Amino acid sequence: MDHARRPLIAGNWKMNGLAADAEARGRDLAGRTRAGDAPPCDWLVCPPATAIPVVVAAVAGAPVAVGGQDCHAAASGAHTGDIAARMLADAGCGYVIVGHSERRADHGEDDAAIAAKAAAAHAAGLVAIVCVGETEAERDAGRAHAVVARQIAGSIPAGATAANTVVAYEPVWAIGTGRTPTVDDVQAMHAHIRGCVPPSIDAAALRILYGGSVKPGNAAALLRLPDVDGALVGGASLVVDDFWAIGEATR
Ligand code: 13P
Repeated sequence: MDHARRPLIAGNWKMNGLAADAEARGRDLAGRTRAGDAPPCDWLVCPPATAIPVVVAAVAGAPVAVGGQDCHAAASGAHTGDIAARMLADAGCGYVIVGHSERRADHGEDDAAIAAKAAAAHAAGLVAIVCVGETEAERDAGRAHAVVARQIAGSIPAGATAANTVVAYEPVWAIGTGRTPTVDDVQAMHAHIRGCVPPSIDAAALRILYGGSVKPGNAAALLRLPDVDGALVGGASLVVDDFWAIGEATR
């Protein structure tokens, strides 16, 4: 971690819990950030869409941002079931995750679709968290860096900056499996990503998060790597004690 870039500890709650669970989790996290001596990181939670309003209210006044887990590329229109980026902004979000591997796999989203979503996020004033990461077969074939370079080239829209974009490196095979790459592999990939972002982004200022089985027990080792600027946390973000402990690892 390079403290010129303030670490971002982001929780992706995925499709878990109802509004009451989300509200309680948001309230608990907000209370901890207000209690003094909070770790030196930014906090973000990305609830299921229906719980965004209660979480926005629960964290009001606390240094906890709220984000969406996906958005549509269009500003409005006949897209049943989708959510526009500006609707997320209207609901109180400051961020949106785009291109998560679960959306790439479950909904067939390709790099161009993800770039369009990120552009819509930017137009709505949101920070886009653009997710990239290789499958296990791609890593085993020695293609991880090439795959991620292709995803970066295709998924980051024109006009992206270090202020409106965060990259999350999430190896598909590390998500929800309890497995992670070695710290050397994580550092090598993050340095690689920093080296291949488009020129509109000030690479030295870009926050690059690691995601995939981040837990209290491995967070410090991951977060101390020079090119790791935070974490995108799935399962462990549902337990506030664990999520907080991951933030504590930024000290
Ligand atoms: P886990 O932390 O549960 O592996 O999930 C990671 C993830 O997909 C975050 O977006």
